[in-house]
Amino acid sequence: MKTVFLETYGCQMNVADSELMAGVLERAGMALVDRPEDADAVILNTCAIREHAEQRVLGRLGDFARLKAANPELVVGVAGCMAQHLRAKLLEKRRVLDLVVGPDGYRRLPELLRRAAAAPVADVRLDRDETYGDLEPRRERGVRAWITVQRGCDKFCTYCVVPFTRGRERSLPLADLVRQVERAAAGGCREIVFLGQTVNSWRHGDDDFADLLRAANEVDGVLRLRFTSPHPSDMTDRVVAAMAECGKVMPHVHLPLQSASDRVLEAMNRTYTLDGYRDVVRRLRAAVPGIALSTDLIAGFPGETEEDHRRTVDYMREVRWDSAFLFKYSARPDTKAFRWPETVSEDEKGRRLTELIELQHALSGEIHDALVGTEEEVLVEGRGRRDDGQLYGKSRTFRTVVFGDDGSAPGTLRRVRIVGATPVTLIGESVDAPRPEPLVTIGG
Ligand code: 5AD
Ligand code: SF4
Repeated sequence: MKTVFLETYGCQMNVADSELMAGVLERAGMALVDRPEDADAVILNTCAIREHAEQRVLGRLGDFARLKAANPELVVGVAGCMAQHLRAKLLEKRRVLDLVVGPDGYRRLPELLRRAAAAPVADVRLDRDETYGDLEPRRERGVRAWITVQRGCDKFCTYCVVPFTRGRERSLPLADLVRQVERAAAGGCREIVFLGQTVNSWRHGDDDFADLLRAANEVDGVLRLRFTSPHPSDMTDRVVAAMAECGKVMPHVHLPLQSASDRVLEAMNRTYTLDGYRDVVRRLRAAVPGIALSTDLIAGFPGETEEDHRRTVDYMREVRWDSAFLFKYSARPDTKAFRWPETVSEDEKGRRLTELIELQHALSGEIHDALVGTEEEVLVEGRGRRDDGQLYGKSRTFRTVVFGDDGSAPGTLRRVRIVGATPVTLIGESVDAPRPEPLVTIGG
């Protein structure tokens, strides 16, 4: 077992977990390869948050089944949130899968792969102590580093499979995290994003999330700090104050609301009311002027009436999020809501979702149009994918900004004047382009 092809589905947490797996495999003497055809083993790091995500993974397993037909030695593994669900597939007669490993089994990955080459293996135990705090991930070299500060979730929202796939909430120690931030900065990362399912409930010993932000703010070389996703109920005054007082913590928060109807919020077990959310927004906007806010909303939760939906639409106009991730409700096995009858038809879910998407598009467009003529500080990430002579990066408020390539290196900060906008991107020109070498004039 020498070469492994690793493919990642789902959220940033999974991307970070893949970096962790890559570190474990490389330390065991295995090499990561870019093509499944070149690998002794392929691993899919999977997502189970909505049915659609699972279907994509199952489709991809079909590709690997064909590869395995041509090369019966190939070990096919599945990691991550679908592990529990796919366990039964190890026993199928015309078996494709050799290995199923859950989110708490990555430390044992090299050994599991070797065993799977001989006979099918499952390791889906959840371990309420595993944080991987001592393991160094193999980070993609880039401007931004994602650092997992907390694993699992204790909130048990009634629609959500995460507490079942990832287990109980655990936080990594402050000292381990500060060391990870220092290493990332020493490796050239300029922006750190703390990751956790309810990241602002991070707590270790006497330290809370406000302490973590303050400690990271002191690390040299780091220019910007972000975190995702906080839970509205854990947005304490201490956290808000730390955001306001730490110069490196950027003025943007992704704050999932899910629904603006108190009835639906209650059925979702979100633990706050719309007024509670309004209060968090008010405190954030008062403490951090110009803060950008984004959210997640679910359309068509069981029992959601047209009136509930209208409340969400009305609140969108009131709060004016900068952007939003909008989802159709998807019933997930194991969750409480899975047992409840779905009262909103697929068509109706689609209609509600489309209404939310169109409204958010219009609002984001208005907010972006109003930024034309202003200046933004952009952390340069690199050349655009289309390679059309444009650089791109993020503003302090996490808006994507593209501007003409002026030779700025990734990881540098530029002042950019905004000259155009779409609902998803700002278009600018740099106003402090790096100075060209002075012209040498000869004679006179
Ligand atoms: N159906 C639809 N959306 C869901 N999310 C989580 N579970 C479900 C589900 N069963 C959404 C929530 C969450 C985001 C990560 O995914 O909005 O904030
Ligand atoms: Fe899922 Fe709710 Fe936990 Fe978020 S807070 S991961 S939606 S259970």
